[in-house]
Amino acid sequence: MKNFTLPIAFVAVFAAPAALSHSGVKDPQVMARMQLMSLVANDMKILGGMAKGAIAFDLARVQARAASLEQHATDTLRLFEPQANDPKSEAKPVIWEDWDDFSAKAREMEETARQLGLITTEGAFGAAFRMVGQTCTACHETYRINTN
Ligand code: HEC
Repeated sequence: MKNFTLPIAFVAVFAAPAALSHSGVKDPQVMARMQLMSLVANDMKILGGMAKGAIAFDLARVQARAASLEQHATDTLRLFEPQANDPKSEAKPVIWEDWDDFSAKAREMEETARQLGLITTEGAFGAAFRMVGQTCTACHETYRINTN
């Protein structure tokens, strides 16, 4: 087992059924960062539901998800820094050649999530949410194999 610190949220979901979607991943560091990204996707799913009107807008809920995303962005820096590999990983090796740029992209996610957490009206939600969403694509298109 490599020496790394798990985010609390990761520990909480580790035993949950969601972990099964990552079956076959052997490297614990790769598993940790995949789980982290799944938590990120979960936050974005709730916010996306609100953006589409499928889930009722709730400012407190937006703020909670934004705080979660901000923390996950900080965790992204920590969990991706060691270069860990696994046949199931979708991370491109160029991450560790261009670490400064990768970190800048994680910091953009952190900052846009922080901004989202500062909104006070429903009218400001859509634009702030899209800003966060753009940071996912910006990083994935360069650093993830499946950029969906
Ligand atoms: C700084 C770069 C970066 C940012 C920002 C980022 N991601 Fe990722 N993401 C990655 C990388 C790299 C992987 C592939 C990790 C691996 O397979 O080892 C990944 C993987 C994923 C996965 C697949 C996880 C799995 O189960 O294997 C999802 C889902 C995901 N990201 C969602 C998001 C969403 C939603 C956002 C925006 C809120 C986001 N990511 C922002 C770099 C990033």
